[in-house]
Amino acid sequence: MANEVIAIASDHGGYEFKEILKSELIEYGFDVNDLGCHDTSSVDYPDYAHALADTLKNGVVKRGVLVCGSGIGISIAANRHPHIRAALVHDALTARLSREHNDANVLVLGGRTTGIEVAKDCLKVFLNTGFDGGRHQNRINKMS
Ligand code: RB5
Repeated sequence: MANEVIAIASDHGGYEFKEILKSELIEYGFDVNDLGCHDTSSVDYPDYAHALADTLKNGVVKRGVLVCGSGIGISIAANRHPHIRAALVHDALTARLSREHNDANVLVLGGRTTGIEVAKDCLKVFLNTGFDGGRHQNRINKMS
C-alpha cells in the first residue's frame, strides 16, 4: 500500500520549522507534499494556507501541517475553508485535544513562538491521536 501523503506549507516565519517537520514526517514513513515556501524570503501566509486547503479539498490528502511566525495568521486563513479544521497548538496537550475533541485535519504551529522539540512532540501526538466522536461529532456538525 502507498504511504499516506501529508501536505505541509509555511510562510517565511515558519520555513525553518517546516523543513525540520518535513524530515520528521519522512522519517515516520509518510510521503510529503511540500507546498512551499522554499526559503526565508518574505511571502504572504494566506497564499500557503489556501494552497494547503486546496490540496485537502478532494479528500485524497487528508491531513496537513501549516507553520507561520505565530501560527495565528495561517490558521485564520486556513479556517476560511469549510473542509478545514486547523488547530493552532502549543504543546502535546493542545495537540491531543485538537484531535480527540475537534478532529483537526490541519496542525498549525508558530515557528517563532514554540520550541522545535515541543513542535516535534505536537506533530507526533497529532499524527497518532484519534477523534473521540460522540458528543464531539455533534459539535463539529454544527460548524458546517
Ligand atoms: C510574518 O512576519 C508574520 O506576520 C507571520 O508569519 C505570522 O506570524 C502571522 O500571523
